[in-house]
Amino acid sequence: MENKKIILTGDRPTGRLHIGHYVGSLRNRVNIQNAGDYDKMFVFIADAQALTDNFENPEKVRQNVIEVALDYLSVGLDPSKVTMFIQSQIPELTELAFYYMNLVTVARLQRNPTVKSEIKMRGFTPEDGGDQVFGSGLPVGFFTYPISQAADITAFKANVVPAGEDQKPMIEQTVEIVRKFNSIYGEGTLVEPEIMLPSNSACLRLPGTDGKAKMSKSLGNCIYLSDSAADLHKKVMSMYTDPTHLNVADPGHVEGNCVFTYLDAFCHDEHFGLYMPDYACLDEMKEHYRRGGLGDVKCKKLLEKILNETLEPVRNRRTELEKDIPAIYEILKKGSEAAREVAASTVEDVKNAMKINYFKDAELIRGQAEKFAK
Ligand code: TRP
Repeated sequence: MENKKIILTGDRPTGRLHIGHYVGSLRNRVNIQNAGDYDKMFVFIADAQALTDNFENPEKVRQNVIEVALDYLSVGLDPSKVTMFIQSQIPELTELAFYYMNLVTVARLQRNPTVKSEIKMRGFTPEDGGDQVFGSGLPVGFFTYPISQAADITAFKANVVPAGEDQKPMIEQTVEIVRKFNSIYGEGTLVEPEIMLPSNSACLRLPGTDGKAKMSKSLGNCIYLSDSAADLHKKVMSMYTDPTHLNVADPGHVEGNCVFTYLDAFCHDEHFGLYMPDYACLDEMKEHYRRGGLGDVKCKKLLEKILNETLEPVRNRRTELEKDIPAIYEILKKGSEAAREVAASTVEDVKNAMKINYFKDAELIRGQAEKFAK
């Protein structure tokens, strides 16, 4: 097992994926894939996790499974190089999660900041009318999803998890579960994962087109990977910039100005030679904006061109892929079968370590026979 690089990550199918997902994690996945710098790579659709807070709306999850699969394939994930699967089709994951539940306390789950903020965001209200975050109206499935996420990761012995910053607490919790499991049941059984975050800080949490901290479907401030060129144009042109930059000649702010944040996330120096030779690089352009004399529309036009460079091929691939939807399900089915084999082998290791492999344990059977023969 030493030094093997096993990459695993997934997304909840609660909507189409947007450029926040792209810079936060999808781009890293495609780069790793294309560099070939890994032993195995798994990318999956976390439908079971999505159901923990959409259990009343299974149709939404069902519809978005194929949307996310199309997004994966259209950004360039290649099923011949990456095992793509659907979480719910791997029953071994629930099996692992059940055993891991013994290793995690309620207090530890309550300290998970992502779970805490998600509970507030989703408005899970306490049954007892109180106002504490972890009220008795909180569904147990949602509360414990970090444990199921630990199962997702460890089932494949993944050591690298490309994901957004919000997933950091999940990986930390997984590491704790791995350590606890190994210390109780046998060192070396499970593998500790590490998160892989984007290197550029603008990509850590891409704001919405309205300047709000997060791109989110419910806020209607997303640029989707599947947006048409016309939608992209409309969204870029109406993006939030600097409310104090009223006239072109006014000095402007680039901090908190999402046109510049998106440029930070997407542009390279070469783009300037190509599309805006007045500047050698983004810093020069920012300097001009700060000084005054550079208009928002000009900045937005540049951003649109740069975004299109990434999104146009994605769009075109998607159009092709949409012509054969049964083939997409077939990819997911094959991937799920392959993933299941890997997870089953880990479950076997886990059960051996926990000594709940009765029928394979000849020594146990012999020992018990001797005991009762006396
Ligand atoms: N929590 C992730 C999200 O919100 C989805 C996910 C489930 C995941 N299991 C995972 C991500 C394991 C990385 C590794 O999209």
